[in-house]
Amino acid sequence: MPFGDLDVAALRKRRSAKWSVYPPDVLPAWVAEMDFPLAEPVRAALHEAVERGDAGYPREGELPDAFVAFAQRAFGWTIDPARVFMVPDVMDGVAKALELLTERGAQVVINSPIYPPFFAVPAAVERRIVDVPLRRDGEGWALDLDGLERAFAAGARTYLLCNPHNPVGRAFTRAELEAVADVAKRYGVLVISDEIHAPLVLPGATHVPFAFVSEPRGVDAVVLTSASKAWNIAGLKCAQLVACTPRLKTVPRSVRYSVGIFGLFASVAAFRDGGPYLAEVIAQLDRNRALLGELVARELPGVRYRAPEASYLTWLDCSALGLGDDPAAVFLERGKVALSRGRDFGAANAQYARLNIGTSEAILREVVDRMRRALAR
Ligand SMILES: Cc1ncc(COP(=O)(O)O)c(C=O)c1O
Repeated sequence: MPFGDLDVAALRKRRSAKWSVYPPDVLPAWVAEMDFPLAEPVRAALHEAVERGDAGYPREGELPDAFVAFAQRAFGWTIDPARVFMVPDVMDGVAKALELLTERGAQVVINSPIYPPFFAVPAAVERRIVDVPLRRDGEGWALDLDGLERAFAAGARTYLLCNPHNPVGRAFTRAELEAVADVAKRYGVLVISDEIHAPLVLPGATHVPFAFVSEPRGVDAVVLTSASKAWNIAGLKCAQLVACTPRLKTVPRSVRYSVGIFGLFASVAAFRDGGPYLAEVIAQLDRNRALLGELVARELPGVRYRAPEASYLTWLDCSALGLGDDPAAVFLERGKVALSRGRDFGAANAQYARLNIGTSEAILREVVDRMRRALAR
């Protein structure tokens, strides 16, 4: 069971951000990297590229076909490969889509709590953020359709959707997305849909590509996705932009040339031959989200947790703990465990912390134990 039995000492040798930012007495459960080994087909593709000395500029080559075949198998999504463009990463693709399809100063709607670059990237290309926060829906979260409509009626014509949603873990239903597409149609809104976590939808939920609801209505959309989360290759720099609008005919060559060629080879291998690995990752995450539920109930009373429908990020409501305005800082200082800080996901979310469960059950138990000890003092 390669995923159930991870060696912390070996993980500490990794030089990626997750394992190298904090000192060795801290257990990291923050940035969106998983602790699992690379998929065998990805390792092989990378080794072969090194053997060939094949580290020059990237060419799309087999990537569009490999991605299109994966999207068909995984989501039942039929895509014309001519509409698939490679970009270095998803957020770079978001920036490029904004630059190519919207005006400077345009209002861009997002839904906090949200992956922090959703604030930073539109701002970096001089677009204005309009936050329509998700609404609490019992123990869970939902899109605020009335809020979206108000934002569009007030002039916003671009919506940056995150589906599956980071950090709340929602995989929005077809009905929810149809309602979004109906409102987008009424106001002529362009929807940029970040679907980077889509391959990691967990049992019980389904990923609905936004194209399923935009295309029948003639809503302009751009979908961004990548093998980088599901196969844990974010540092290799290769993502896919799917132009679901006639307004986007191509992506500048300079952008395509910025893709990492090793990322391209790894993505082709992942999409083609990474199915068994993905199934193992999903099975492990399914176990971990249930285990976290048990552990929170037993060890962290006061923390509110709702199991994610997709991926490996969990959003913990720590407001009942009385830890001040940065619970993650308290867990770090007293428990030596690193979570992501809630307020980075939107100012109103200071009482939350994001916990990464993309690891083994044993490490997850240790993470929670450190959190428990932080609260016990
Ligand atoms: C929703 C979402 N979008 C984008 C990214 C970053 O992707 P990339 O590195 O391809 O820009 C992440 C990373 O965690 C994410 O969670």
